[in-house]
Amino acid sequence: MSVKQIGVLIGGSGLIGGTIVNFYKSHHADTVDIRAPSSKKVSLRDEEDVRGYLGEIRPDFVINAAMANLGASSRLALEVNYLGPVILARAAAALGIPYIHISSAATLPAGENLREEDTLDLAPGLSNYAKSKLMAELTLRRMAEREGLDYSCIRLAIVYGAHDHKIQGFHRMFFSIADESMPVLFTKKNTLHSYSNSRKVPFLVHHMLRHRDEFRGNTYHFVDKEPVDLATLILTIKSYLNLSLPKEVYVPYWLADGGRKVMEVVLKGLRRFGLKATLPPELMFLDSFYKPQTLSTEKLAATSFVDPMPEETIFTRLPELVVYYLNRWSNENLITTYGGAFAQDRPETRLFASNPEFLIDSVHKRGIGPFPELVRDEPWPVP
Ligand SMILES: NC(=O)c1ccc[n+]([C@@H]2O[C@H](COP(=O)([O-])OP(=O)(O)OC[C@H]3O[C@@H](n4cnc5c(N)ncnc54)[C@H](OP(=O)(O)O)[C@@H]3O)[C@@H](O)[C@H]2O)c1
Repeated sequence: MSVKQIGVLIGGSGLIGGTIVNFYKSHHADTVDIRAPSSKKVSLRDEEDVRGYLGEIRPDFVINAAMANLGASSRLALEVNYLGPVILARAAAALGIPYIHISSAATLPAGENLREEDTLDLAPGLSNYAKSKLMAELTLRRMAEREGLDYSCIRLAIVYGAHDHKIQGFHRMFFSIADESMPVLFTKKNTLHSYSNSRKVPFLVHHMLRHRDEFRGNTYHFVDKEPVDLATLILTIKSYLNLSLPKEVYVPYWLADGGRKVMEVVLKGLRRFGLKATLPPELMFLDSFYKPQTLSTEKLAATSFVDPMPEETIFTRLPELVVYYLNRWSNENLITTYGGAFAQDRPETRLFASNPEFLIDSVHKRGIGPFPELVRDEPWPVP
């Protein structure tokens, strides 16, 4: 009888972590027992928690998919995004097990076809998120070189996928379009970015764990091969939703940035009256809406990893994601505009009335084959 491997994943309630847990439970339940303690049980902010838990479970590998919210204070970002990963890595090195770390393109500058080594220089002025993620990458590399850490780092760009309960990054932008709170385009024409498909991440994690000699001590970009123009993406979502906003008017950066600064002053004033009001943390990335950031995929392409769904891109997944998120946000009463239709109806009802071509496409993509559990082995008896 073969013994199951035990894997510990931190960040299992998140977009990426949840997808990895789900993958192991549905594809490798016979060989891997994946444990994903909540942050209440094991917090990366508490060294004793982490050491105690890993010492007791003694897993065969550790995956870190945790992060502090984008708008987190410097203390939280430091503890969750930097010091926590170092604690995990020290425990992994002590146990002699692999550590898979998820990182972010926030550690890279703007630019095109950026390679893995083209990181930002560490500087005080970086955002809390970029600084803490970059520091984690730097220390992990040092630990691999000097302390015998067996790790691999997966650097993601803008992530798309289902189950983003916190509505961050790409899903925040998508939400603004659905909520009709994006009146015009805060970008300029032909601004290309790389995107990462959350559904493919677990395949890479699993492959890396199975091929340690090949992947040990390395960082890889994990993004779709073709970058995507931001304005095209926004306008595609708008047309799927059959909305009149945002208008195809490109707001120049100086104006958008000026507006953001004015809003900051207004919100600061409101806070004096005890009103809790903040700008969406994504606005810290405002300049990246105007600058390209595309990541080279060459390094990973030269490995033994094979893309499990090469035909899938953000555009092919959009129909399914639109239905998923509109259902979710309308059930949670988060979408207030959009004619109020989603409050009473399933999103499909609205699409049925306004965009049947899109609806039929999304039904086809979700699957129209025979239900496998109902398929009969025996032919129907001939009367
Ligand atoms: N989403 C993106 O667009 C994107 C882009 C590039 C890179 N990434 C990277 O991908 C990774 C996962 O991101 P995500 O989008 O999946 O994040 P997410 O949805 O915000 O989830 C974050 C996870 O971290 C956990 N966490 C927070 N504080 C913790 C603590 N003190 N101790 C233990 N766990 C804690 C959260 O648990 P609770 O819910 O219990 O707090 C949650 O499970 C991160 O490394 C991020 O930098 C994401």
